[in-house]
Amino acid sequence: MSDSAAGTAPEALGAHELITTTRAVRRRLDLEREVDPGLLEECVADALQAPQGSNLMRTEFLVVRDPDRIDHLGRIYREEFDGFYRASDVGLFNRVDSDPRHAAQSRRTRDSAEHLAAVMSRVPVIVIPCLTPRLAEGDVLNAKHRLATVYPTVWNFMLAARLRGLGTCWTGMTLGREDEVAEIVGIDPTQVEQVCMIPVAHYTGTTFRPAWRPPAEEFIHWDQW
Ligand SMILES: Cc1cc2nc3c(=O)[nH]c(=O)nc-3n(C[C@H](O)[C@H](O)[C@H](O)COP(=O)(O)O)c2cc1C
Repeated sequence: MSDSAAGTAPEALGAHELITTTRAVRRRLDLEREVDPGLLEECVADALQAPQGSNLMRTEFLVVRDPDRIDHLGRIYREEFDGFYRASDVGLFNRVDSDPRHAAQSRRTRDSAEHLAAVMSRVPVIVIPCLTPRLAEGDVLNAKHRLATVYPTVWNFMLAARLRGLGTCWTGMTLGREDEVAEIVGIDPTQVEQVCMIPVAHYTGTTFRPAWRPPAEEFIHWDQW
Protein backbone atom coordinates (compact mmCIF):
# COMPACT_ATOMS: atom_id res chain seq x y z
CA MET A 1 0.00 0.00 0.00
CA SER A 2 1.18 3.50 -0.66
CA ASP A 3 1.14 6.39 1.81
CA SER A 4 -1.31 9.29 1.64
CA ALA A 5 -0.39 12.65 0.17
CA ALA A 6 0.61 13.95 3.59
CA GLY A 7 3.03 11.09 4.18
CA THR A 8 1.14 9.38 6.97
CA ALA A 9 0.37 5.70 6.88
CA PRO A 10 -3.43 5.31 6.76
CA GLU A 11 -3.03 1.54 6.56
CA ALA A 12 -1.90 1.68 10.17
CA LEU A 13 -5.39 2.80 11.27
CA GLY A 14 -6.93 0.61 13.94
CA ALA A 15 -10.19 -1.14 13.12
CA HIS A 16 -12.21 1.04 15.51
CA GLU A 17 -10.83 4.26 14.10
CA LEU A 18 -11.40 2.98 10.56
CA ILE A 19 -15.09 2.21 11.08
CA THR A 20 -15.86 5.33 13.11
CA THR A 21 -14.04 7.88 10.97
CA THR A 22 -14.54 6.77 7.38
CA ARG A 23 -16.54 9.76 6.17
CA ALA A 24 -18.14 10.90 2.94
CA VAL A 25 -15.17 12.76 1.45
CA ARG A 26 -16.03 15.64 -0.87
CA ARG A 27 -14.03 18.80 -0.15
CA ARG A 28 -10.89 16.84 0.56
CA LEU A 29 -10.79 14.91 -2.72
CA ASP A 30 -7.45 15.72 -4.34
CA LEU A 31 -8.41 16.51 -7.92
CA GLU A 32 -4.82 16.90 -9.08
CA ARG A 33 -3.30 13.63 -7.95
CA GLU A 34 -3.57 10.51 -10.09
CA VAL A 35 -4.81 7.28 -8.58
CA ASP A 36 -2.74 4.19 -9.31
CA PRO A 37 -5.04 1.53 -10.85
CA GLY A 38 -3.15 -1.07 -8.79
CA LEU A 39 -4.54 0.53 -5.63
CA LEU A 40 -8.05 0.24 -7.01
CA GLU A 41 -7.50 -3.43 -7.80
CA GLU A 42 -6.39 -3.97 -4.22
CA CYS A 43 -9.53 -2.22 -2.96
CA VAL A 44 -11.74 -4.45 -5.11
CA ALA A 45 -9.92 -7.56 -3.89
CA ASP A 46 -10.52 -6.46 -0.29
CA ALA A 47 -14.14 -5.58 -1.09
CA LEU A 48 -14.81 -9.12 -2.28
CA GLN A 49 -13.97 -10.44 1.20
CA ALA A 50 -17.40 -9.17 2.34
CA PRO A 51 -20.20 -11.66 3.09
CA GLN A 52 -22.06 -12.98 0.04
CA GLY A 53 -25.60 -14.38 0.12
CA SER A 54 -25.36 -18.11 -0.73
CA ASN A 55 -21.63 -17.52 -1.29
CA LEU A 56 -22.36 -16.07 -4.72
CA MET A 57 -20.34 -13.08 -5.87
CA ARG A 58 -22.60 -10.64 -7.59
CA THR A 59 -21.00 -7.24 -7.26
CA GLU A 60 -18.95 -5.90 -10.15
CA PHE A 61 -17.06 -2.63 -10.17
CA LEU A 62 -16.97 -0.41 -13.21
CA VAL A 63 -13.93 1.84 -12.74
CA VAL A 64 -14.00 4.97 -14.88
CA ARG A 65 -10.67 6.78 -15.38
CA ASP A 66 -11.24 8.35 -18.80
CA PRO A 67 -11.54 12.15 -18.22
CA ASP A 68 -14.10 12.61 -21.01
CA ARG A 69 -16.41 10.00 -19.55
CA ILE A 70 -15.91 11.41 -16.05
CA ASP A 71 -16.76 14.87 -17.35
CA HIS A 72 -19.96 13.56 -18.88
CA LEU A 73 -20.95 11.61 -15.75
CA GLY A 74 -20.17 14.66 -13.61
CA ARG A 75 -22.42 16.84 -15.74
CA ILE A 76 -25.32 14.40 -15.30
CA TYR A 77 -24.61 14.37 -11.55
CA ARG A 78 -24.68 18.17 -11.44
CA GLU A 79 -27.93 18.37 -13.38
CA GLU A 80 -29.61 15.96 -10.97
CA PHE A 81 -28.23 17.84 -7.97
CA ASP A 82 -29.39 21.23 -9.25
CA GLY A 83 -32.74 19.99 -10.51
CA PHE A 84 -34.28 17.07 -8.72
CA TYR A 85 -32.26 17.14 -5.48
CA ARG A 86 -32.52 20.83 -4.64
CA ALA A 87 -36.30 20.60 -4.91
CA SER A 88 -36.66 17.33 -3.02
CA ASP A 89 -38.45 17.34 0.36
CA VAL A 90 -36.21 14.68 1.88
CA GLY A 91 -32.87 16.01 0.69
CA LEU A 92 -30.67 18.48 2.52
CA PHE A 93 -32.20 21.65 1.08
CA ASN A 94 -35.84 21.64 2.20
CA ARG A 95 -35.78 19.43 5.29
CA VAL A 96 -36.10 20.75 8.84
CA ASP A 97 -33.99 18.81 11.36
CA SER A 98 -35.43 19.17 14.87
CA ASP A 99 -32.16 18.51 16.73
CA PRO A 100 -29.86 21.56 16.44
CA ARG A 101 -26.75 19.35 16.26
CA HIS A 102 -28.28 17.40 13.40
CA ALA A 103 -29.35 20.66 11.71
CA ALA A 104 -25.81 22.06 11.94
CA GLN A 105 -24.37 18.83 10.58
CA SER A 106 -26.88 18.86 7.72
CA ARG A 107 -25.88 22.42 6.81
CA ARG A 108 -22.23 21.37 6.62
CA THR A 109 -23.16 18.30 4.58
CA ARG A 110 -25.21 20.46 2.22
CA ASP A 111 -22.28 22.79 1.60
CA SER A 112 -19.96 19.85 1.12
CA ALA A 113 -22.45 18.22 -1.27
CA GLU A 114 -22.59 21.47 -3.28
CA HIS A 115 -18.84 21.24 -3.60
CA LEU A 116 -18.95 17.66 -4.85
CA ALA A 117 -21.61 18.56 -7.42
CA ALA A 118 -19.32 21.33 -8.66
CA VAL A 119 -16.24 19.09 -9.02
CA MET A 120 -17.69 15.68 -9.89
CA SER A 121 -16.67 16.24 -13.52
CA ARG A 122 -13.02 16.58 -12.46
CA VAL A 123 -12.45 13.74 -10.00
CA PRO A 124 -9.69 11.32 -11.09
CA VAL A 125 -11.82 8.19 -10.74
CA ILE A 126 -15.49 7.30 -10.59
CA VAL A 127 -16.47 3.80 -9.50
CA ILE A 128 -19.90 2.40 -10.33
CA PRO A 129 -20.68 -0.79 -8.41
CA CYS A 130 -23.13 -2.92 -10.39
CA LEU A 131 -25.34 -5.94 -9.95
CA THR A 132 -26.21 -8.50 -12.63
CA PRO A 133 -28.74 -9.57 -13.63
CA ARG A 134 -30.99 -6.62 -12.82
CA LEU A 135 -33.34 -6.82 -9.86
CA ALA A 136 -36.74 -8.28 -10.73
CA GLU A 137 -39.38 -5.51 -10.70
CA GLY A 138 -41.67 -5.77 -7.69
CA ASP A 139 -39.83 -8.67 -6.04
CA VAL A 140 -38.90 -7.00 -2.75
CA LEU A 141 -37.77 -10.19 -1.01
CA ASN A 142 -35.34 -11.00 -3.79
CA ALA A 143 -34.11 -7.40 -3.86
CA LYS A 144 -33.45 -7.52 -0.11
CA HIS A 145 -31.25 -10.57 -0.48
CA ARG A 146 -29.41 -9.39 -3.53
CA LEU A 147 -28.76 -5.83 -2.39
CA ALA A 148 -27.69 -7.12 1.01
CA THR A 149 -24.91 -8.91 -0.81
CA VAL A 150 -23.85 -5.78 -2.66
CA TYR A 151 -23.87 -3.20 0.13
CA PRO A 152 -21.27 -4.79 2.45
CA THR A 153 -19.03 -5.35 -0.57
CA VAL A 154 -19.26 -1.71 -1.58
CA TRP A 155 -18.68 -0.51 1.98
CA ASN A 156 -15.65 -2.82 2.20
CA PHE A 157 -14.38 -1.13 -0.95
CA MET A 158 -14.75 2.27 0.70
CA LEU A 159 -12.99 1.12 3.88
CA ALA A 160 -10.22 -0.46 1.80
CA ALA A 161 -9.85 2.82 -0.10
CA ARG A 162 -9.52 4.76 3.15
CA LEU A 163 -6.74 2.41 4.23
CA ARG A 164 -4.88 3.37 1.08
CA GLY A 165 -5.29 7.11 1.53
CA LEU A 166 -8.24 7.32 -0.89
CA GLY A 167 -11.39 9.26 -0.12
CA THR A 168 -14.79 8.12 -1.36
CA CYS A 169 -18.40 9.25 -1.17
CA TRP A 170 -21.40 6.98 -1.75
CA THR A 171 -23.75 8.81 -4.10
CA GLY A 172 -27.17 7.92 -5.43
CA MET A 173 -27.73 11.14 -7.34
CA THR A 174 -27.51 9.60 -10.83
CA LEU A 175 -29.65 6.52 -10.23
CA GLY A 176 -32.63 8.23 -11.85
CA ARG A 177 -30.50 8.68 -14.99
CA GLU A 178 -29.22 5.10 -15.19
CA ASP A 179 -29.82 4.74 -18.91
CA GLU A 180 -27.75 7.81 -19.79
CA VAL A 181 -24.97 6.73 -17.45
CA ALA A 182 -25.10 3.26 -19.01
CA GLU A 183 -24.63 4.68 -22.47
CA ILE A 184 -21.55 6.69 -21.43
CA VAL A 185 -19.79 3.69 -19.92
CA GLY A 186 -21.04 0.90 -22.19
CA ILE A 187 -23.36 -0.81 -19.72
CA ASP A 188 -26.31 -2.82 -21.04
CA PRO A 189 -29.07 -1.36 -18.86
CA THR A 190 -31.38 -4.28 -19.53
CA GLN A 191 -28.93 -6.62 -17.79
CA VAL A 192 -26.89 -4.56 -15.35
CA GLU A 193 -28.20 -2.61 -12.35
CA GLN A 194 -26.17 0.36 -11.11
CA VAL A 195 -26.03 0.47 -7.33
CA CYS A 196 -24.42 3.86 -6.74
CA MET A 197 -21.66 6.12 -8.08
CA ILE A 198 -18.51 6.71 -6.04
CA PRO A 199 -15.97 9.45 -6.69
CA VAL A 200 -12.49 8.26 -5.65
CA ALA A 201 -9.38 10.38 -5.10
CA HIS A 202 -6.48 10.64 -2.71
CA TYR A 203 -7.66 12.69 0.24
CA THR A 204 -5.89 15.79 1.42
CA GLY A 205 -4.95 16.15 5.07
CA THR A 206 -4.48 13.23 7.38
CA THR A 207 -7.16 12.75 10.01
CA PHE A 208 -10.91 12.30 10.03
CA ARG A 209 -13.10 12.50 13.11
CA PRO A 210 -16.14 10.50 14.20
CA ALA A 211 -19.37 12.25 13.17
CA TRP A 212 -22.05 13.30 15.65
CA ARG A 213 -24.74 10.63 15.88
CA PRO A 214 -27.68 10.33 18.31
CA PRO A 215 -27.09 7.98 21.26
CA ALA A 216 -27.16 4.27 20.43
CA GLU A 217 -29.90 3.63 23.00
CA GLU A 218 -32.36 5.50 20.74
CA PHE A 219 -31.77 2.86 18.08
CA ILE A 220 -31.90 -0.33 20.15
CA HIS A 221 -34.95 -2.41 21.02
CA TRP A 222 -34.17 -5.07 23.60
CA ASP A 223 -36.20 -8.27 23.31
CA GLN A 224 -39.30 -6.55 21.90
CA TRP A 225 -40.00 -3.49 19.71
C1 LIG B 1 -27.68 5.61 0.04
C2 LIG B 1 -26.79 6.83 0.11
C3 LIG B 1 -26.88 7.78 -0.89
C4 LIG B 1 -26.06 8.92 -0.85
N1 LIG B 1 -26.10 9.81 -1.88
C5 LIG B 1 -25.29 10.89 -1.86
C6 LIG B 1 -25.24 11.77 -2.97
O1 LIG B 1 -25.91 11.57 -4.00
N2 LIG B 1 -24.41 12.83 -2.89
C7 LIG B 1 -23.60 13.09 -1.80
O2 LIG B 1 -22.88 14.09 -1.81
N3 LIG B 1 -23.62 12.25 -0.74
C8 LIG B 1 -24.43 11.17 -0.75
N4 LIG B 1 -24.40 10.27 0.30
C9 LIG B 1 -23.48 10.51 1.44
C10 LIG B 1 -24.25 10.98 2.66
O3 LIG B 1 -24.69 12.29 2.44
C11 LIG B 1 -23.34 10.90 3.89
O4 LIG B 1 -22.98 9.56 4.12
C12 LIG B 1 -24.06 11.41 5.11
O5 LIG B 1 -24.28 12.78 5.00
C13 LIG B 1 -23.27 11.17 6.40
O6 LIG B 1 -21.98 11.72 6.28
P1 LIG B 1 -20.72 10.84 6.67
O7 LIG B 1 -20.79 9.60 5.81
O8 LIG B 1 -19.53 11.70 6.39
O9 LIG B 1 -20.87 10.54 8.13
C14 LIG B 1 -25.17 9.11 0.25
C15 LIG B 1 -25.07 8.13 1.24
C16 LIG B 1 -25.85 7.00 1.16
C17 LIG B 1 -25.70 5.93 2.22
